[in-house]
Amino acid sequence: MAMSTPAGGHHRLDSSNDTVVLQFREEGLPEILHWGTRLPDEIDLEEFRRAVERPVPHGLFDLGEAPSLIPQAGSGFTGHPAIQVHRGGYDTITDFRLAGCQADSAKINFVLNDETLAATLLVQLMLDPTTGVLTSRIKLTNTGADGLNLDWLAGLTLATEYADITQFDGRWALEFQLVRQYLSSGQIGKENRTGRTSHHSPPFLIAGEKGFGENHGAVIALHLAWSGNHKLFAERLRDGRIQLQCGVLLTPGEVILKRAESWESPPVYVARGERGLNDASRKLHAFVRQNLLSPRIAKKPRPVHFNTWEAVYFQHDLAKLKTLADLAADMGVERFVLDDGWFKRRINDRAGLGDWEVDDIKYPDGLSPLINHVIARGMEFGLWVEPEMVNSDSDLMRAHPDWILGIQGRAQPLGRSQYMLDLTRRDAFDAIFEKLDALLRQYPISYLKWDANRDVSHGLSAGRPAMYSQIQALYRLLDRIRDAHKDIEVEACASGGARADYAMLTRAERIWTSDCNDPYDRQTIQRGFSIFFPPEVMGCHVGPRRAHTTGREASTAFRAYTAFFGHMGIEANLLDLTAQERLQIATVIREHKRWRDHLRHAQIMRLEYDDRSICAFVAIGEASALISVAHLSSSPYPLLAPLRVPGLGRGNWSVQQLNIPPAARSRVKYAPPLSLGEKVILPALVLREQGVPLPVIAVGEVAIFALHRLGTANE
Ligand code: DGJ
Repeated sequence: MAMSTPAGGHHRLDSSNDTVVLQFREEGLPEILHWGTRLPDEIDLEEFRRAVERPVPHGLFDLGEAPSLIPQAGSGFTGHPAIQVHRGGYDTITDFRLAGCQADSAKINFVLNDETLAATLLVQLMLDPTTGVLTSRIKLTNTGADGLNLDWLAGLTLATEYADITQFDGRWALEFQLVRQYLSSGQIGKENRTGRTSHHSPPFLIAGEKGFGENHGAVIALHLAWSGNHKLFAERLRDGRIQLQCGVLLTPGEVILKRAESWESPPVYVARGERGLNDASRKLHAFVRQNLLSPRIAKKPRPVHFNTWEAVYFQHDLAKLKTLADLAADMGVERFVLDDGWFKRRINDRAGLGDWEVDDIKYPDGLSPLINHVIARGMEFGLWVEPEMVNSDSDLMRAHPDWILGIQGRAQPLGRSQYMLDLTRRDAFDAIFEKLDALLRQYPISYLKWDANRDVSHGLSAGRPAMYSQIQALYRLLDRIRDAHKDIEVEACASGGARADYAMLTRAERIWTSDCNDPYDRQTIQRGFSIFFPPEVMGCHVGPRRAHTTGREASTAFRAYTAFFGHMGIEANLLDLTAQERLQIATVIREHKRWRDHLRHAQIMRLEYDDRSICAFVAIGEASALISVAHLSSSPYPLLAPLRVPGLGRGNWSVQQLNIPPAARSRVKYAPPLSLGEKVILPALVLREQGVPLPVIAVGEVAIFALHRLGTANE
């Protein structure tokens, strides 16, 4: 690649709405001078730089706190550096300088050299022309003779003034819970050392103007596309600015580069929201849909699932499963997913992982009788697997006790009675591939639910840290399976939602959001999930009347209309539901099928509402929109305030509530036409400024409104 420094030491990247201006100082470090709304084409970048330049206060280094994309101690930076390396304890100070770059209006690649250290960095920034989402990639190469230890390489460092920081917290069965903190001093950040994307610390970071909301205030939403250990943080620097950094969390000694070897960070994706978090989500969803999602999603509408887990757990009985398949098919299900429990010795979660042979007691004639039955009922067949894991009670472990991550002779805590296989070993990798491949060749399985149910404490291979290589091996395994079986779809799952990230999303058509099917909690879980992920990849199931994870009861309508807004499915023992309940779910499924194409293209906007008892959002398309309003806890007032709905542009919309509860008339003294299911016409500006009048909704109810644009968008 021909490399040169851009004329004038500046370069701009443009999307339809955004401009990023980079400058290359004389000292040789690239810096983002500006990232904001698109600047006029004719702007003189040198003038612009002079205009936005900031003073250098006393008390710091002579050039100030060396702002750059690669802040380092060597160039006068005392915050957390973007890169930390050494050679056996020497060469700890880096001073990478620009050696050349190659750029166009959407992309810039630059090479930075540190000749004393003998290493180079290759950095690439891409601004997606349509959405304005920024992608950052960075690669370190050792050009010296001795081994170069890499301890930290930020996938991206962004300087910002935004101190209102939001990250996700969560746990098994309660993922994607937002935690908001103001960064006055020091760092706010999270590390993930679980070896999976994580329930409690997934790789997302949001920084905004103080008090930003869903529809106001500028924000930056950032994601490291990685499914293993990571660290993301915001740091208040001593000059008052803030830096955001994220990268793979490496174990000391994990990466030692030999001469000419390289290490590359996973990509980082960042969206800027000018008007709140919804704006950032709009860009991220569009970017994901255009650039990351598998084309398999566009090929066909997302099939409605039936998943057997909460219906039967490990008690697989062919006759019962066939009955469930019949009931599911009658309810409009299109894909039957046989969850955990189908393979040898799998009577509980303590045995069988790793063998992947059909249990001949539960299935004396193999899976064919069930699969044929499912297919005959017009459904696809999907199968649960957990390929990275092994139980000690398995033939695989008995034959190859050394195939697990860890150290022989050192005990390690078990998670769900299982170990993680060392996929960096060729033999273990090939053996697992062959077992999965054989299953997929033997049976017409068109879907794999790919689970991973333990955290990793001893991420070691042959005594050395190996979590980074392990996750790369996982990606290779998934890619190999998907290459060998071109039509297969995959669901990324890890004890519920501990594997929701964009790296998995390029290899999976669905993400299992959470094991919690209780709509009260699901509403907030799905709300958090929707910040970075579009609805068509969000696995959502109608659970049993009493939720297995919370013990709480919820109405059929509430459960069904909560599952309605993603990739819908059912996960309950259908034999425990009354015919009336099954019919009710089937009716919502029918409705979902009418709207699922809309959802696949829709812009999701989380709606703000003063009364915290309400959780509401809207899915907006060109000509129609769907609003969901869930009442989660008792409201202080008998009358709910109208719900303001932005994003509908101009013109008039017809508005109609889709699901009128039987008590709609009797629970109030007067019910207006909208609350009785009549269509009303409202201008977009009234919906935005005054809002949709809400009916009296009982706690545990959800109101769904269908909107249709009258006339064209410009009226
Ligand atoms: C965890 C998943 O999240 C569940 O949906 C289920 O597949 C179980 N594992 C099976 O062991």
